[in-house]
Amino acid sequence: MLKNQDTKKSYGKLYGVGVGTGASDLLTLRAVNILRSVDTIAIPRSSLYASSVAWRIASPAVGKVEGQEHLYLEFPMTRDSSLVRPAWEKALGKIEKVLLQKKSLAFITEGDPLFFSTYIYLHQEAKKRWPGIHIEIVPGVSSFTAVASVASLPIADGQEKVAVIPARYGLDDLPEILRSFDTILLMKVSSVMPELVQILEKEGLLDCSVYVSRATMPYQKIEYNLKNIQNDSCDYFSMVVVRKTERSGVLMGATSQDKTAKPN
Ligand SMILES: C[S@@+](CC[C@H](N)C(=O)[O-])C[C@H]1O[C@@H](n2cnc3c(N)ncnc32)[C@H](O)[C@@H]1O
Repeated sequence: MLKNQDTKKSYGKLYGVGVGTGASDLLTLRAVNILRSVDTIAIPRSSLYASSVAWRIASPAVGKVEGQEHLYLEFPMTRDSSLVRPAWEKALGKIEKVLLQKKSLAFITEGDPLFFSTYIYLHQEAKKRWPGIHIEIVPGVSSFTAVASVASLPIADGQEKVAVIPARYGLDDLPEILRSFDTILLMKVSSVMPELVQILEKEGLLDCSVYVSRATMPYQKIEYNLKNIQNDSCDYFSMVVVRKTERSGVLMGATSQDKTAKPN
């Protein structure tokens, strides 16, 4: 029994911290307090030469903390698992080294850490690899709420149903989803814009759609006429929101002619 206790490893605390989608004053107070207090901030970036979007957002609010380590981790932007897996093994090795020294570590992530985020893999692996580790998640302002805010567009009201679709993984089932839901949040749209615009036009929903890129970031863009940008090379940080108002119309007294994504 004693022997078991002796060999049982203990770890520093792991935090998954959402830093929001762009503006540094949209970090939560909790995120700032934790990022100022941990021993190490783990900062994901796409390559050795790229800057980190998450750290660009967080650093003005966090500032320089004496004695704090910044652990840069590289994750290539690819769906090729033969490249992603070794990158993760390397990153997990570096994180483990810190945690085994009983130091606290906060992994920062753009938006929310549990919503289409790099942090999710770490979260799952941490529980498997480091049994008993204490983990805390700090939620962040997510892209869909930031996009809705800057476009001044309600996401859902009353009995409305919402769908979230990572568009670059295929649009085959989109027409059916468009018919079944009241608000459709299309993430990761940059590589599929022409195809997406075609489907929205066919379904008669172009007027109910809005494209938003870099919400709350510098160079934020809002475009209500998707045909204007369908052939542009769209930003990775972009979303399309399709907002019908049929069901809310029942509650709010709106007519079916009110079908438009433009704010009042
Ligand atoms: C890997 S996901 C990250 C999502 C993030 N964890 C969140 O909570 O929003 C990246 C996608 O989120 C959306 N996104 C993230 N930030 C955005 C922003 N500031 N403006 C518009 N879309 C954004 C885009 O669709 C982008 O392709």
